[in-house]
Amino acid sequence: MNRPLIFVFLLVSFWSVSAYAMKFSAYNGDVYFDHRMHRLLYECKACHEGPPQHFELDHESGHKLCIGCHRKESKGPSRHCSDCHKTS
Ligand code: HEC
Ligand code: HEC
Ligand code: HEC
Repeated sequence: MNRPLIFVFLLVSFWSVSAYAMKFSAYNGDVYFDHRMHRLLYECKACHEGPPQHFELDHESGHKLCIGCHRKESKGPSRHCSDCHKTS
């Protein structure tokens, strides 16, 4: 590959990663959420009420949504805080 092509390739791969791996800030460790992986598993309305767009998550609603589904499905982290809250 020539240089300009490599640059474009890096730019596109960076964009696609940053567009899907979401980060929610929390004082006890930020939470990373693979939106794309979850989108492939579920319909939008599993998490979005109404049109799929930005919505606010907080401590209570975040735990209700994320841990609620993981418990229900017996998949994904629900027990150990550090499975979601990454301190390093
Ligand atoms: C399935 C993932 C998940 C697990 C497991 C989880 N959390 Fe959370 N937690 C979140 C999300 C998402 C938020 C919302 C973050 C935000 O509002 O930006 C959150 C928010 C919080 C907050 C608020 C932080 C702040 O800055 O306001 C606290 C405190 C917290 N969690 C504690 C815990 C504790 C204690 C445990 C273990 C018993 C735990 N969490 C397990 C996903 C998780
Ligand atoms: C497993 C849960 C889940 C599923 C399924 C899901 N989303 Fe999301 N989505 C979220 C969460 C959590 C956020 C982050 C909340 C926020 O900050 O806006 C989000 C944010 C978004 C945003 C705002 C992006 C941004 O950068 O702020 C869009 C647009 C979106 N989702 C579209 C979709 C579409 C389209 C689908 C279905 C194909 C879908 N989502 C399926 C949980 C989900
Ligand atoms: C509607 C159901 C549902 C919701 C809502 C949901 N998840 Fe999940 N999540 C899953 C399932 C199912 C898996 C297991 C996927 C697998 O193992 O293939 C999973 C796996 C995960 C994993 C482990 C992924 C890995 O790479 O091993 C993390 C971390 C996670 N979820 C975080 C979150 C956070 C944070 C939220 C809320 C913002 C959330 N999830 C909301 C269903 C859900």
